[in-house]
Amino acid sequence: MKKTQYELRKIYAGVFDKSTLLALAELIKKNHIDDIDSIVSTGKESNVYHGVIGEKEIAVKIYAIEASSFKNMERYIIGDNRFRSWRNRRQLIYNWAQKEYKNLSRVYDCIECPRPHHAYKNILVMDFMGEGGVSFPTMKDAPPHDAKKYYEIIKGYLKSMYGRGLVHADFSEYNILNSGAKPIVIDLSTGVLADHPLAGEFLKRDVHNIIHFFKSMGVDCSEKNLLSEVKNG
Ligand SMILES: Nc1ncnc2c1ncn2[C@@H]1O[C@H](COP(=O)(O)OP(=O)(O)OP(=O)(O)O)[C@@H](O)[C@H]1O
Ligand SMILES: [Mg+2]
Repeated sequence: MKKTQYELRKIYAGVFDKSTLLALAELIKKNHIDDIDSIVSTGKESNVYHGVIGEKEIAVKIYAIEASSFKNMERYIIGDNRFRSWRNRRQLIYNWAQKEYKNLSRVYDCIECPRPHHAYKNILVMDFMGEGGVSFPTMKDAPPHDAKKYYEIIKGYLKSMYGRGLVHADFSEYNILNSGAKPIVIDLSTGVLADHPLAGEFLKRDVHNIIHFFKSMGVDCSEKNLLSEVKNG
């Protein structure tokens, strides 16, 4: 059932700050969210909620304005020519939400990741990757049964992302969900375009992290080979 702004305020007044509450009310008014019913993850930089729009499950990621580690974020956004400069922390976080939206939009049709719906202020609405309000587990918590098969699929994702000019920049088993049938990439807010000054460094680190994981799973793979395969398409 769609919530009214009054009901929303009554339920969430102690949970969200006032501007987040107003932004949520706006998303509800515009029919981008019908309801938010549970929290699926609390983190340092964001909380992720489960919601619905019509019959469809959605994930609502709300970036914290106050708690965010400003300096660390700047490494991933300064030099990105998709964003104008920001005057304060709030504007940076709004850009950060737009950044994840744009990164998902760039690749959702060529890799498995949530389809983004809307980014408004510090809120991102996207497809829910899970069932019945429960997110698929991360690959860290639910390692693949067929590691070799997942390695090959994930190699394909890295190539496709790079082919679209995107480096994830926080790629690891913590930001890949496992549906049981396939890996699903999430958390693209850090992602930078391939012409970003630090793109090469971030890509190397992404490759390092994922090779470390798959080696521990017994897959025969190397950073050097993966890096050259990703770069050469
Ligand atoms: N689209 C989605 N569908 C279902 N669950 C999701 C979705 N996006 C995120 N989650 C859940 O929220 C968790 C955290 O998401 P994400 O990695 O995007 O946030 P984060 O920025 O890393 O948060 P943190 O502040 O903890 O680092 C995921 O591990 C997953 O459980
Ligand atoms: Mg994450």
